[in-house]
Amino acid sequence: MRIGVFCSGGDAPGMNPCVRAVVRASIASGQEVVGICRGYQGLLNEDFFVNSDGQPIMDARSVSDLSKHGGTILRTSRCPDFHTIEGQKKAAGILRKHAIDALIPIGGDGTFHGAVDLMKHWDGLVVGCPGTIDNDLIGTDYTIGFATAVQTAVEALDKLRDTAESHERMFLVEVMGRHSGYIALYTALAGGAEVACIPETPTDVPEIIDRLRKLKARGKKSIMIVVAEGDENGGAVKLQADLIAADCPFQMRVITLGHLQRGGSPVPADRILGTLLGEFAVKSILEGKTGVMAGRIGGALTLTPFEQTFDRHKPVPPELVRVLATMAH
Ligand code: ADP
Ligand code: F6P
Repeated sequence: MRIGVFCSGGDAPGMNPCVRAVVRASIASGQEVVGICRGYQGLLNEDFFVNSDGQPIMDARSVSDLSKHGGTILRTSRCPDFHTIEGQKKAAGILRKHAIDALIPIGGDGTFHGAVDLMKHWDGLVVGCPGTIDNDLIGTDYTIGFATAVQTAVEALDKLRDTAESHERMFLVEVMGRHSGYIALYTALAGGAEVACIPETPTDVPEIIDRLRKLKARGKKSIMIVVAEGDENGGAVKLQADLIAADCPFQMRVITLGHLQRGGSPVPADRILGTLLGEFAVKSILEGKTGVMAGRIGGALTLTPFEQTFDRHKPVPPELVRVLATMAH
C-alpha cells in the first residue's frame, strides 16, 4: 500500500512526532509512505517530500530526531482552491496518478471538512489525526498541540504576573483557540488567573467589575484576566475599552500571545499523543477503516467519523469553570 501523509491548517507542536509515527509504523508493516508538502495546496501542486536519496518517498531516516521539533517538517498551508469542486477533483486525479491508496491528513476541522469533500471524488482510505492547538474537535479528549500551547501560555502568564504584582496592575492576556475557550480556560486555571472570558460562558462586564472591586477590597494587588480570542464579547482590546468605560478599579495593560502559542518544542504529552495517534491511524488504514479521525478518549484509542468531529461545538468541562471562579479569591 502507498500511504500519503500531510499536515494542513495551522501548525501545531506534535505534528512532527505524528508524522514520524506514521512513517515508522507504515514502514514497519511493509507499506510505502509519500509525504505531501504544504497540505492540500501541496497535493494540488504535486509537491512531495524528497528523501536524502532524492526519491519522493519518506524513509525511516527522513524522520530521525524529529519528535523534539515544533512546527512540521512537511510544512503546512491554508488552501483556498481546495474549497472548490474543481480543486477537489484535481486532487483526486493526482492521488490516482501517483497510485496513492490511503491518506493520513493531520490537521483541524477545516482539514477534515476537506477530507470529507475529497472522499466524494476519490475512493482511497482516509484516516485523520487531530493536529491543532485549539482542542476544538469532538472525538478526542485532547488534540495534538493543545498541551504545548497551554504550557507556553502559562509560562507567559507566570512572567506577566511578576510585572503585574510589581506595578500592582491588571493584565488582559488574549490567547488563541478560534471559536473555542479551551486554551483560555486551561491557561487561566493553571496560571492562577482571576477571570477567564470564553465563548462558552457569558462575559458580563458589570459582573467582572463587581468581582474586581471585591478582590481589591480583599487586598489583591494584581489581576490576570485570560481572554479567548473567540469570546462572544470580543477580544482583549474590546474588553479593555469596556472595563475602562465601566470605571475599572485596576490600571491595565493588554497582551496578545498570538502565534507564540503555536511554536516550540512539543511537551511530552503532545509527543506521546502524536505518536500514538499516528501509529493508530496506520493500523486503522490497514484494517480498511476510512472517513474517520483517530482520537484518544479516557486512554482508549478511538475512531470518530469526520463529520461528527466538527458538527457541534466541543463543550469545555464545566467543573473547570466552577473551580476557576472559586480559586479567584
Ligand atoms: P484547520 O484544519 O486547522 O481547521 P483550516 O480551517 O485552515 O485549518 O483548514 C485547512 C484547509 O482545509 C483549508 O485551507 C482548505 O484547503 C481545507 N478546507 C477547509 N474547509 C474546507 C471545506 N469546507 N471544504 C473543502 N476544504 C476545506
Ligand atoms: O487553528 C489554530 C489557530 O492558531 C487558531 O487558534 C487561530 O484562530 C488561527 O489558527 C490563526 O490562524 P493564522 O495562523 O492563519 O493567523
